[in-house]
This record gives sequence, structure tokens and C-alpha cells, in this order.
Amino acid sequence: MARNRLTPNRHLPFGDRQEAPFYGKDILGVGQFRRADLHDVFGVAHEMREMVARVGSFDLLKGKILANLFYEPSTRTMSSFTAAMERLGGSVIPISEVHYSSVAKGESLPDTVRTLECYADVIVLRHPSLGAAAEAARYARKPVINAGDGPGEHPTQALLDLFTIHEELGTVDGLTVTMLGDLKYGRTVHSLARLLCQYDVQLRFVSPDSLRLPEKVKAELDEAGIRYEETEALDDVLGQSDVLYVTRVQKERFDDLAHYESVKGAYVIDRDTMSRAKPNMVLMHPLPRVGEIAMEVDDDPRAAYFRQMEYGLYVRMALLAMVLGKA
Ligand code: CP
Repeated sequence: MARNRLTPNRHLPFGDRQEAPFYGKDILGVGQFRRADLHDVFGVAHEMREMVARVGSFDLLKGKILANLFYEPSTRTMSSFTAAMERLGGSVIPISEVHYSSVAKGESLPDTVRTLECYADVIVLRHPSLGAAAEAARYARKPVINAGDGPGEHPTQALLDLFTIHEELGTVDGLTVTMLGDLKYGRTVHSLARLLCQYDVQLRFVSPDSLRLPEKVKAELDEAGIRYEETEALDDVLGQSDVLYVTRVQKERFDDLAHYESVKGAYVIDRDTMSRAKPNMVLMHPLPRVGEIAMEVDDDPRAAYFRQMEYGLYVRMALLAMVLGKA
């Protein structure tokens, strides 16, 4: 049985933090964010960007500790949360090799998070099971941030993706956003599609038939009145796309390796593809890439995937500051 969570605002460090919408809250899915919340997060992210450019690191979260608990591999999410916390003056407990922790002895997720919250102020969790972050949050009194739960959601990635679109194109309303690749297992696609329901956008989904967007996500788009089309042919929609969001085929989610082999090379974005795209199209990828975007495209000014990673630092700094009541 989960313990009752302490009322998050019970012991306010100062002033008027009752008004801070994410203070003490878990970040589990993008459904928590209304458009005004996104505006707030991005406003703080801009401030973080300026501060990093000006002073590098500062002491906003001095004395605070983040536990990075990763049951699946990660480069960007784990290291950007670490960098975010350290640039804010806090520190990090890194558990990225769970087989060297007591998880290897059979410790459950509820017990692991209840252990870490004795030492940390916030827990960032990546786990292969759908719903794992929600389960952890039911047991933890401290905030849990979902860093990817199997094929479920990756909300902080979606926030940084949306921030990237806004930074690159100056707006989100009115855009046609095309998502390509493994739309079935790609949790970043699920989160971003849901988040874009807050805006006046059109969506295009390009995938092999066996990797189409789940019906559950499409039902949410229908409910939000979002116009979308599905196709297997990128050329059907490339010329109308303002954003092309490419994803890798998620080998680790396939039960049948032969199926993976049959779809893994379905799409490759190269110079020829880019020659048929809009001159100001933004090419994004959550990364890692495993062949979906040829390296010859990296020098194209429309290739935003490395800038996208940097934006992630500022968005995660903003989220940590907001969840810990300092923004
Ligand atoms: N985009 C992303 O989640 O990357 P990592 O798996 O490297 O964290």
C-alpha cells in the first residue's frame, strides 16, 4: 500500500510558492501541461539559457539532490539532467547501472524509490515498463520525473521538442508537423503528438504499416480535433511539412527480430530528401540515430537535432527549478 503523499506546499521555503503550479509535483505525462504552463516552462527555460551563457553555473538549487535512476540506457536524458542539476548548484546521485545497485538483488521499484527519497529531493526515473513512473510516484513522497517508461511517454523530451520548434520557427500554431519512423513504440512521438493538441497544428504520420501510431493516441487526437493523415510514403507529405521529426526503429521493443530487420531501414533522410523539403523546414530527431538521418545532412542549416539537445538542458533546468519551488 502506497503512503499518502505529503501536501507538497506544506513547508514552503519562502514567499508565495503556493502559486507555483509544479512545485512538489510529479512530472509523469504531458497531459499535465496546459498551454499556459508550457508558456511558463519556456519562459523559465529562456532565463536558464541566458544565465548559462552569462555565468555557466549558479546556486539556485544549492543543497538540493537529484537521484538519477535509469533502468534503461541513456546518454542525453541522464547527462542533461545531471548537467541541469549541477549548473543550478545542486548535486546528483547517479544510478545508471542498476545491476550494480540492490535492484540486482531483487529490490522492487517501490522500495528503490522509497530508499532514494531518503537521500534526494527529486527522482528522475527511466524504466522499460509502461506505467513505471506512475507506480514509483504512488510510493514516493518526493517528486518523480518520468524520463521514459517503456513505450509509454517521455514528457521532458516532448517539452524540449516543443521548445525547439518554437525557438527554430518562432511559433507552433499553423504548422504542419510530420513524424516519421517507429510511431508504434516511439514514446517521444506519443508525448509530442499529445502535447501538440494544445496548438492549432496539422499532423502527418509516416511509418511502415506495422509501426503505425497506436489507436489510443489517435483517439486523443480525434478528441482534441487535431487534423492528421497517415501514410507509408514520405513524399506524400514532405513538401508540406514545416517540421520533420524522425525517430529510430526501437529494436529493444520488438519480440520478433525478423520483423525489426524488415522495417529498420524503411526511411533514410539524406541530401536528396532535403532537396525536396521546404527551404525553412526544421529537421528534428530525439536521438540516438541509427541510420535514419545520413551524416551528410548534419551541415544543412535545417538540421536542428544538435541544437535540440542543447535546448533540452535549459528545459530540464527550468523543470527542476519549478518542481523544487525555486522558479
Ligand atoms: N532522446 C533521448 O531520450 O535520448 P537518450 O536515450 O540518450 O536519453
